Amino acid sequence: MSANNEKAAADALASEAEAFDKRITERRQHGFVADLRRMQPSEYFYKSFWRHPHYADLYVGEMCRNYLKFFAEHVTPGARILDLGCGPGYFALELARAGYRVTAIDISEKSVATARAALAENPFRDGFGSLEYHVGSYDLALEFGSFDGVLASGFLHHIPEIDEAVEVVARCLVDDGILVWHEPVHSGWTRTDAAFVATIRALLAASGLWYEPNLPDGLDGPGLLALTDDIQQEYILERDPNEADGQSPNDLSLDGPEIVRSVSAAFDIVHTQPSYSFVYRLMGGMRGDQEQLNRLASLLALIDRTYVDAGILNPNYFYGVARKRAVKDNC
Ligand SMILES: C[S@@+](CC[C@H](N)C(=O)[O-])C[C@H]1O[C@@H](n2cnc3c(N)ncnc32)[C@H](O)[C@@H]1O
Repeated sequence: MSANNEKAAADALASEAEAFDKRITERRQHGFVADLRRMQPSEYFYKSFWRHPHYADLYVGEMCRNYLKFFAEHVTPGARILDLGCGPGYFALELARAGYRVTAIDISEKSVATARAALAENPFRDGFGSLEYHVGSYDLALEFGSFDGVLASGFLHHIPEIDEAVEVVARCLVDDGILVWHEPVHSGWTRTDAAFVATIRALLAASGLWYEPNLPDGLDGPGLLALTDDIQQEYILERDPNEADGQSPNDLSLDGPEIVRSVSAAFDIVHTQPSYSFVYRLMGGMRGDQEQLNRLASLLALIDRTYVDAGILNPNYFYGVARKRAVKDNC
């Protein structure tokens, strides 16, 4: 790589880290606790599932339960697990609570500081494996020996040089080690999926249960179609129409099919399954009596899960489990 290209790559990584530093700093200032067992409600999140612990459990909690299930199926108790792009560390913390020996890496210094703070306060120590956090880019992992499993939770789609990252992941793993992921597959999310969400939002708004109370005012046919198109863009770009920037500069560098193609170069894919279609950008936008909203959120999650599993709605994210392919000995 030329000196200019190296500098450009370093600058891009610094901007990526800065975006996540800013995000976690704001979240912590508004009461965010990076521990899935100790979440607090926060009105700072106007539409996100982080608004209430019940919503977080339905979405992030389900992700966590799936990660634990995949690792339990494919590695031994107490195995060494690497969490790449761990963010504020709530998944790494749960893996360590399940007895795994976890190393977690992220380029965002403030995310790692947040993760370390949650670890220092951890009241759930029975059966705890081990957990260490490091600040750096993913290739730092090569310094920490071999792992039995790697978790890439919303990480791979932030890596434009995905093939290099997959190679690093393979080098970090023991021979039959596994990679577990949850990553976007927005390319399959259709206008029909968006129309389903537009219908729910309009009905919630008409019932006074949506954060945009004026949503249905004067809504006509063309208005409903425009809303549908906005919602499709919102889910695909992961930001509201009035939000100028996305999550970070490298966000959405890749989508599901490109991730599968890249992983397949060094891994055999043993399992994929769809995640949710829409509920994660819906629950947090509801307003009203919290007990009623929790019941509605559970119902919406059930609807989402059922229709995705039946092939009626398309998922926006998917899970995968892949086993490192043995390198053939040509001697
Ligand atoms: C969408 S967040 C996912 C955080 C967490 N894994 C989760 O599932 O909530 C992506 C994370 O990847 C990190 N990241 C981006 N590029 C990275 C790189 N080159 N090396 C390590 N971490 C990186 C970001 O700082 C951010 O915390």
